[in-house]
Amino acid sequence: MLVVVHSNYEAMSKKAAEIVASRIRRKPNLVLGLATGSTPLGLYKELIRLHKNDGLDFSKVVTFNLDEYVGLAPEHDQSYHYFMWENLFKHINVNPSNIHVPQGMFGDLKISPFETDPKIEQFCTWYEDEIKKYGGVDIQILGIGGNGHIAFNEPGSSIGSRTRIKTLTEKTVKDNARFFKSKDEVPRYAITMGIGTIMESKELLLLANSAGKADAVKSAVEGSITAMCPASVLQLHRKAILVADKEAASKLASEFVTYG
Ligand code: PGA
Repeated sequence: MLVVVHSNYEAMSKKAAEIVASRIRRKPNLVLGLATGSTPLGLYKELIRLHKNDGLDFSKVVTFNLDEYVGLAPEHDQSYHYFMWENLFKHINVNPSNIHVPQGMFGDLKISPFETDPKIEQFCTWYEDEIKKYGGVDIQILGIGGNGHIAFNEPGSSIGSRTRIKTLTEKTVKDNARFFKSKDEVPRYAITMGIGTIMESKELLLLANSAGKADAVKSAVEGSITAMCPASVLQLHRKAILVADKEAASKLASEFVTYG
């Protein structure tokens, strides 16, 4: 994994945007995998700036988001549909028909660890097929959870997993409660690309900032490859880049790190 460390969040966000912009300039119909959460906000801000000031063209770009909460309508201000429109899509010239964010509303669901509701199964198969139809994701942006999760693949998720419904861990519910009025309002389930789906992306761009991510980053980069730290699986990817600020990288052995 190429590890690039920048002195602060703004610098790392600019670096990440530079990488994404270079891929779009090289391939205007890039298939771009997108993430939500606070980490990629700086990257999206910079991509918007590059679109407005430097004419970075998203008109042919195709996007696939990693995940969505189950039970939140697209208009809900904590849904990932809403997040993406507010923080990126409405500010750039992406073609709405090229945007893919997993569906979160399925009506009444029977949720069981042993059997997936057919409505969910049908959607997840469609999402995987749609990614394939566009030739696969060219570059996937990823955040990392404090527990090492990528997308909503929580510790213990199967390394070969595909798009499916996942139960959020207590830690993730607690971490995400800051965005809701109370912890009780945080959805307990999400639709998420699987680790296997993510690993098929041609390139992975993992972003991490703040001291709260330092342990997860250390396990991901220097720890054993284990389902208990889903991000550690990136060590098996042929082209994975971690762009971090110095707090998130503070526990890494410095000899493996490139300073940006
Ligand atoms: P954050 O979330 O960017 O809000 O820290 C990252 C994640 O949980 O994947």
